[in-house]
Amino acid sequence: MRILVTGGAGYIGSHTVVELLVAGHNVVVLDNYCNSAPVALQRVSDIVEQATGAQASLTTIEGDIRDRALLDQLFEEHAIDAVIHFAGLKAVGESVDKPLEYYENNVGGTVTLCQAMDAAGVTRLVFSSSATVYGEDAPVPYVETLPRGRTSNPYGTSKAMVEQVLTDLCRANSRWSVALLRYFNPIGAHPSGLIGEDPQGIPNNLMPYIAQVAIGRRSELSIFGDDYDTPDGTCQRDYLHVVDLAIGHLKALRALNEPSVKAYNLGTGRACSVMEMVQAFEKASGRKIAYRIAPRRAGDLPAFWANPSKAAQELNWQAKRSLEEMMADTWRWQSTNPNGYHG
Ligand code: NAD
Ligand code: UD1
Repeated sequence: MRILVTGGAGYIGSHTVVELLVAGHNVVVLDNYCNSAPVALQRVSDIVEQATGAQASLTTIEGDIRDRALLDQLFEEHAIDAVIHFAGLKAVGESVDKPLEYYENNVGGTVTLCQAMDAAGVTRLVFSSSATVYGEDAPVPYVETLPRGRTSNPYGTSKAMVEQVLTDLCRANSRWSVALLRYFNPIGAHPSGLIGEDPQGIPNNLMPYIAQVAIGRRSELSIFGDDYDTPDGTCQRDYLHVVDLAIGHLKALRALNEPSVKAYNLGTGRACSVMEMVQAFEKASGRKIAYRIAPRRAGDLPAFWANPSKAAQELNWQAKRSLEEMMADTWRWQSTNPNGYHG
């Protein structure tokens, strides 16, 4: 198939493009590089060429999903069969300060993309959603039969809004087939060490923060709260390997063969605490992670993890990679690219 991947130069997108190309798909990436760099896609091509011995069938287009004319031209020039839509803004704190940017990019951008797809007769879409759509009060483990809940920031709300937009679209138009993939906490990197997560500025998320402390870019980790009602007092999350997550997209794509909108949790089904993450990273890297206990972070939930049974049954997908692999692959990426893609 020929797949359009929006945001394909980003963290999850680049890993997914590798899996798509290795599986023999043709890929067109559309990215405006607002949170990524073209070099990531060069490295994707290198990984694929090493793995397959053939040149990767990858076309890259620099541009914005909000640019309707560009999208129309793209669909005219490339016979796209389906779209995997990663492009969007993802920093929770920033979304509180800049809600309009988040709604414009994440919601407006998706509407423009769908309009262009519909006009071109491309009606198969895999969308990057998030476990955050379950909201603040959902019981754990999260299961897809739960309603979308009350979100606490514009980023989360934008994901819930897009899910609703896509649900209404599928209800109105029986040609559409959509998978809403609700990611839990993706971490890790490609085992080659060539691509990985490269946050700009101070990382918001736990794993890149720990990795930057290990490499000496940050002096210590702040653990946000050790007085939660969890076994060791620190928050628990469902961390999954980004390569497992990438493979989930291929499986979801394969399942887009009937008109419908379906949500799937992509997680391991296991919870891991912040303290356990620090210890596991220390073991994998052989480095001590300096940390201090800091106040709770506003908006954090004590613990959540996935019930991933639906993806197992309907997509034949399971997260296979262990926490040790997640840590080892993160460390390989961080230690061989201390400044990410920037030198
Ligand atoms: P990322 O920032 O690394 O990748 C997003 C990519 O989209 C970047 O390459 C960026 O340059 C591009 N982009 C942003 N706005 C664009 C626009 N208007 N037009 C074209 N390109 C644009 O993020 P990621 O971690 O790879 O996340 C991918 C998707 O998954 C996002 O939609 C994110 O909200 C969602 N998600 C991520 C996580 C996570 O923990 N990383 C969790 C749940 C959901
Ligand atoms: C955060 C977002 C969520 C988003 C997800 C993936 C918030 C409130 N939620 O989820 O919407 O979908 O990222 O992008 O921001 N931690 C520390 N110290 C740090 C960083 C994190 O102790 O420096 C802790 C957090 O308190 C949390 C855990 O580590 O308990 C994981 O944090 P993070 O990686 O930011 O993910 P989430 O909070 O689950």
